[in-house]
Amino acid sequence: MKIRSLFLFAALLISAGSFCQNSGSPVTEMLLSSYSERAYSNVPVTDQQLDIILKCGIKSPSSRNMQPWKFTVIRDEASVKEIIKEALPGNVLIVISGVESQTGTTPDFDCGLATQNMFVAAHGLGLGARIYGSPVATVAKNREAYQIPAGFKPVIVLRIGNVDKTVDAVSAASPRKAHDEVVNYKK
Ligand SMILES: Cc1cc2nc3c(=O)[nH]c(=O)nc-3n(C[C@H](O)[C@H](O)[C@H](O)COP(=O)(O)O)c2cc1C
Repeated sequence: MKIRSLFLFAALLISAGSFCQNSGSPVTEMLLSSYSERAYSNVPVTDQQLDIILKCGIKSPSSRNMQPWKFTVIRDEASVKEIIKEALPGNVLIVISGVESQTGTTPDFDCGLATQNMFVAAHGLGLGARIYGSPVATVAKNREAYQIPAGFKPVIVLRIGNVDKTVDAVSAASPRKAHDEVVNYKK
């Protein structure tokens, strides 16, 4: 009986060990399964969801903790569509802008981190998100109309919305380069 219990205990330890090595965590699972959605529904993002996403952006790390960013939330349908023509009512855009003149800091890089924090936060809430670089010129040209704060330049636009559930997430995701092509280990 004792030997049998020992055997069972050992088996349990082994399976627990392989579980930890292989399954990762809910965050890594989410990172590995999420993608940049293009297809959305009209269901609006709630104020509560938006607040959590913005909190995650504000919490992002930055060089010397300078937090050299402003997040401009654009929700009115006309402006959203001017910036991303395929956007749907209910989508929210966040324009992430970096400080224009500050020495000893890295605004574009820091804005990238804040963008990724909000992108991941949106997915964590079950929403879709996509990062857009091409509409930045439109926003920059009409910065007063979109109320980009003075002294900041638009770096990137994040689109957030409820996902069209009919889209197959596996085939919608873009492939990635192979591990060996991207990673090398110093010998
Ligand atoms: C800096 C940056 C700029 C991007 N700009 C655009 C864009 O202008 N239009 C667009 O459709 N997607 C844009 N994307 C989304 C990428 O195309 C997308 O992240 C990439 O193809 C990977 O897709 P996946 O996340 O669905 O696997 C941008 C992404 C990044 C990080």
